[in-house]
Amino acid sequence: AAEEIVDAVPVYIVGTEPYFPPFEYADENNSNEIIGFDVDLINAIAEDQGFEIEWKDLEFDALIPALQSGQIDMIVSGMTITEEREESVDFSEPYINAGLSLAVAADNEEIKSLDDVRGKVAVVQQGSTGAMKADELKSEGIIEEVIYLAHVSDIVMNIHSGRADFMINDLPVTKSYMVQNPGVIKIVDDDIQSDSYGFAVKNGNTELLNMLNAGLVNVQADGTYDEIMGKYF
Ligand code: ARG
Repeated sequence: AAEEIVDAVPVYIVGTEPYFPPFEYADENNSNEIIGFDVDLINAIAEDQGFEIEWKDLEFDALIPALQSGQIDMIVSGMTITEEREESVDFSEPYINAGLSLAVAADNEEIKSLDDVRGKVAVVQQGSTGAMKADELKSEGIIEEVIYLAHVSDIVMNIHSGRADFMINDLPVTKSYMVQNPGVIKIVDDDIQSDSYGFAVKNGNTELLNMLNAGLVNVQADGTYDEIMGKYF
């Protein structure tokens, strides 16, 4: 129902949580616009496949429910392809590798790896793969508590204030934060888990999924993908 025809060009509603640089974030020159690796990539695919995009901002853990209810047509939000999520959505081919990293306060001398988190407090983005990893550590009785927050910037604030001891978050995003805000956190393990991101569509929406996959192949073949890569990494 979200699809409408404007001059015969289909418009798809794309859900994202746009506080996740370098993948999706507000343009500092125009905060109404979102920019980022994912944004450029899906725009290139849309152009290649002849569709248009309308963005819808949601919290990360609201994206899959919004897809299932038909509120949005696809998720473009640095979303990791997982077996668990495969049960509720269909993923495109992977479009980038991005694993999980462990970070602590810049002056933390105690936690040097995942082996040192016993009895500690984790902070993660709600609904994320980082949260799943922290939940695992909690259910194994290794860590004391998990704090779930909506945005990565809030997560870092909890590390900074000492409310939490460590964060588990996507490596490129944590790295990007560190470049923008030097001296707050440091990465102590950059490969807790290796993952790939995919675009998600509603289960069975093969028409849109085929376009996404075909467009991805085309923009990879014509050099556009590498150009976008060079712009953000
Ligand atoms: N890759 C992680 C996941 O899929 C985190 C993604 C968060 N994305 C975002 N736009 N906030 O769970």
